Amino acid sequence: MKIYKRLCYLLALVACINAHAQHSLVVKVNEPKGDIQKTMWGIFFEDINMGADGGIYAELVKNRSFEFYRPLMGWKVNQKNFREGAVLVMNRKANDSANPRFIRVTAAGGSKGDFGMTNEGFRGMGIKKDLRYDFSVQYRQVNPGIKMHVELVDSTGMVLGGTTVATDAPDTNWHKATASFTANATVMRAKMNLWFEGSGVIDLDMVSLFPSDTWKNRPGGLRADMVQKLADLKPGFIRFPGGCIVEGFDLSQRYQWKKTVGPVEQRQLIINRWNTEFTDRLTPDYYQTFGLGFFEYFQLAEDIGAEALPILNCGMACQFNSCELVPLDQLGPYVQDALDLIEFANGDVSTKWGKLRADMGHPAPFRLKMMGIGNENWGPQYVERLKIFTKAIKEKYPDFKLVNSSGTDPNGQRFDFLNTELRHMNADLIDEHYYRPPSWFFSNAKRYDTFPRNASKIFAGEYASHYSWDIDGTLRNNWIAALSEAAYMTGLERNADVVSMASYAPLFAHVDGWQWSPDLIWVNNLQSYGTPNYYVQQLFSVNKGNKILPITMNNMVIAGQDSLYATACFDTATNEIIVKLVNASANAQVGSINLAGVKKLAKEGSLTVLKSEDLLTANSFDQPQKVAPQQSAIPVKGKDIVLNAAPYSLNIVRVKMEK
Ligand code: AHR
Repeated sequence: MKIYKRLCYLLALVACINAHAQHSLVVKVNEPKGDIQKTMWGIFFEDINMGADGGIYAELVKNRSFEFYRPLMGWKVNQKNFREGAVLVMNRKANDSANPRFIRVTAAGGSKGDFGMTNEGFRGMGIKKDLRYDFSVQYRQVNPGIKMHVELVDSTGMVLGGTTVATDAPDTNWHKATASFTANATVMRAKMNLWFEGSGVIDLDMVSLFPSDTWKNRPGGLRADMVQKLADLKPGFIRFPGGCIVEGFDLSQRYQWKKTVGPVEQRQLIINRWNTEFTDRLTPDYYQTFGLGFFEYFQLAEDIGAEALPILNCGMACQFNSCELVPLDQLGPYVQDALDLIEFANGDVSTKWGKLRADMGHPAPFRLKMMGIGNENWGPQYVERLKIFTKAIKEKYPDFKLVNSSGTDPNGQRFDFLNTELRHMNADLIDEHYYRPPSWFFSNAKRYDTFPRNASKIFAGEYASHYSWDIDGTLRNNWIAALSEAAYMTGLERNADVVSMASYAPLFAHVDGWQWSPDLIWVNNLQSYGTPNYYVQQLFSVNKGNKILPITMNNMVIAGQDSLYATACFDTATNEIIVKLVNASANAQVGSINLAGVKKLAKEGSLTVLKSEDLLTANSFDQPQKVAPQQSAIPVKGKDIVLNAAPYSLNIVRVKMEK
């Protein structure tokens, strides 16, 4: 019954279904309307849904430094014969405020298997057969005599591999021990055991295990399959680290980039604000350890060819939560963080922050060009803080671009207030967010047609079509949502002279650890798959072009007539005309596309189609390509192409202009 009701809703939603057989579309190839920025289609990254810790950051040990609220969360002490105080949590805050806790292990002469500790991983540990695993630990011999072993086990206790860890430094200083071993089986949810053999006392901290197949094989790096998914989007930019995580529930939990750079053991972890945000999706073991910190974000951006777009706290905590404000006369350190970040990214190695970047392995500048001030902040309090940031940054870096928040919604009182204020301030980029039902996306494809052209540019910084608020796991990222985004995105591209950047949000979700749905890419401990929404993003991005071309039907932009949506562009690098056509109706529709104003075209173009007749269909780990692009050739007759657009489809035609 529930499904039936939804189908009725869907039918109503696409009520403009009309089975007109033939449509005449015209692309004016010699009348380009404006430029499409290289940054047009990008990525929004936030550590939500276990996107970073437990996700792309490949660390397998949860609570490696014992700094979670409960110091042994994720750990279990195993003792054949119980001894009080065999594992103690020590705190050296006076000496090390970033990483105060460690554990003191006292062993009393047992064999391997008698006394040890188990780490459960984030949601278990994804282990691959024949892959090398790299273990490391910081240790201090208090009373030598313990031989330490590490091993991986499956849920039955079967050993998947392991080794002895040499912790035999002759002094009582802290040292780092490393050990590697190869796994003998693939297991989705393994655990790691540490065994303490012999008798003695040893202190342990930063207990870590990484797979060796990280992105670019970087030790302590990122999960390669997840980064590859990002690289395959060919993103123009990557926004990080969020999202609400920038603001924090309160100011003490705000994101502070300076605490995320330098040696990993000195990056002071904080609770992840998504930990308790949704009472129906509580994730009490969700922290930000910042192994993926600002240096790694810049490096990631560089690796995947995207411009970095860091977003900084503007002196306001989340206005839905604590709503804490920094008094204006105390905003100095926040502004300084922004200035120092530019120095960290771009500064000469002789500068304080440029030197840190070099020490971390990247003497060359990252060439940061923009940053966002505030996430979803609003009201006069935001404007007065933003003005202080803008003045200080522009004074020092006049060409640096700033992204300004327009709040949480694309309309309403808050939006209107900010939109007016920010335009008075000549904002470089106004960040608009919309999480709306498919009907909104279909009916707003013309949103930017009437926006002022030579004024502030738009960054559609977070958007996603939400078909249903159900979180029962069956309605995530379905085709109706993706199709409506495609329809809407034709409007973004058609107005690329106003819209400079756009990104779907959120990006990643772990099936066993998510808080927010839908999301672009779903992962488990071993695999990841792209949703239909992912393929929509990818198709727009890899078929971007750099000049907007007018495309019309009956002399009008195509934004919903007969459930068709279209945009066209030209790619001067490849000399190709690119047409994107969304057919949001239940019937096939034929579009005869005239490419007016060209001299000569290739006799054949390419057609890429993303479609499903089932609007509720979704991809999954079992069927990751259920909705995925299919490519074929399409004939070109003179200056005309006949495109038979399947029901509920996104179609992309590329045709080369010949000299
Ligand atoms: O994308 C998830 C959240 O949605 C972001 O953190 C926030 O900016 C928005 O409310």
